[in-house]
Amino acid sequence: MTGVDKRAQTPGADALDAIETASRDEISAVQLERLKWSLSHAYENVTHYRKTFDDAGVRPEDLRDLSDLAKFPFITKTDLRDHYPFGLFAVPRDKVVRIHASSGTTGKPTVVGYTARDIETWSDLMARSIRAGGGRPGDIVHVAFGYGLFTGGLGAHYGAERLGCTTVPMSGGQTEKQVQLITDFRPDIIMVTPSYLLAIADEIERQGLDPRETSMSVALMGAEPWTETMRHEIEKRFALHAVDLYGLSEVMGPGVSCECIETKDGLHIWEDHFYPEVIDPDTGAVLPDGERGELVWTSLSKEAFPVIRYRSRDLTRLLPGTARSMRRMEKVTGRSDDMLIIRGVNVFPTQIEAIIVADERLAPHYQLEVDREGALDSLSVVVETAAGASLDAGARNSAAQELQHHIKSLVGVTAAVNIVDPGTVARSQGKAVRVVDRRHLV
Ligand code: DLL
Repeated sequence: MTGVDKRAQTPGADALDAIETASRDEISAVQLERLKWSLSHAYENVTHYRKTFDDAGVRPEDLRDLSDLAKFPFITKTDLRDHYPFGLFAVPRDKVVRIHASSGTTGKPTVVGYTARDIETWSDLMARSIRAGGGRPGDIVHVAFGYGLFTGGLGAHYGAERLGCTTVPMSGGQTEKQVQLITDFRPDIIMVTPSYLLAIADEIERQGLDPRETSMSVALMGAEPWTETMRHEIEKRFALHAVDLYGLSEVMGPGVSCECIETKDGLHIWEDHFYPEVIDPDTGAVLPDGERGELVWTSLSKEAFPVIRYRSRDLTRLLPGTARSMRRMEKVTGRSDDMLIIRGVNVFPTQIEAIIVADERLAPHYQLEVDREGALDSLSVVVETAAGASLDAGARNSAAQELQHHIKSLVGVTAAVNIVDPGTVARSQGKAVRVVDRRHLV
């Protein structure tokens, strides 16, 4: 445990980037200068931005103050799809050294590009993120995010190398092999989606090993929403620090913001490269810091794929800095578009997750199934029993009834609960599929 705790100390100021401890005024000055550049760069080089700025009657030079950004139009995922594949690039194609894409649930993926300098910036910011999460030069970093078009694997990889870590490019999947490499290489840090780390924990136990005995002292996790309750569950199960890492391919990839291990109180936004706004998702109005709404991102330095006011659909709020000067965003626990509306009640999968994780008889492997019977929506929760909790039929029944009761009283919706044997719910090897919504098929 002492090894774990030593990591939780803030590195000396000389080990941090100067901006991490700069004053608010210094940060705002850097942002204003870069924002002016980014708006002109997008306007001059991307037809879509030129057209939407002109339609809205704004020009880059109308930005005199950071708050003037609110005058500029939003860009959405639909705009990105409409310009598939390279229509929003702001540099000639031969200056683009890397392409990534995020798999949409329907239709074409969203394609993003990077210049050589963009890759440098991304590597620096991922190195900064890993250091904030407790990583130090010389650590062994096991990367279990998928490599490929998904930004997780390569983003983590370049950052770990940049920080000076020994990087193991394991990628997602091959769970038995994950456990073998964790056992043999003895990594200090794992970078992984929280749902896949749980699958790795199951495999460690299946092999008769104890997750608390692994060498890992930090799990840097993101790419999907996870709750505080899940953090406690993972920290208990593995005896490590579970630290939150956020990002999205449209804005860069992982490393847009990251928690600091010493506080674990929300994710510090690397504000020297990204300007955050939180808006009311219905009206588009910018909300003051502290109020919950939808995150909107503007890139400040990206060359190949600048984004101006990209609506992320992620719901959170902005908070003042703590371990670093830059502002924090509260853990993202839902999206304005994965919110389920069931018989008029707004339901976030993470609300149900928190209830499940708090019940020791149940495992954090679950799926929500939404159907429509006639005109009525119905919600079923399929959840596994905890590995060691051999429940007989009566015990299952009462666990199901209690879960149903808590969901009704805390979330406000009636759900059928189906408690199944361990190993029944399909395991993720990357982002978990928490919701199967069959309503649009009917
Ligand atoms: O998921 C990038 C990433 C990789 C982030 C590895 C962190 C770690 P996309 O595939 O474009 O990129 O998906 C982005 O995933 O808008 C959020 O809805 C969700 N997301 C990402 N990180 C978190 C997080 C990557 N820490 C979308 N908490 C985002 C909650 C997250 N949701």
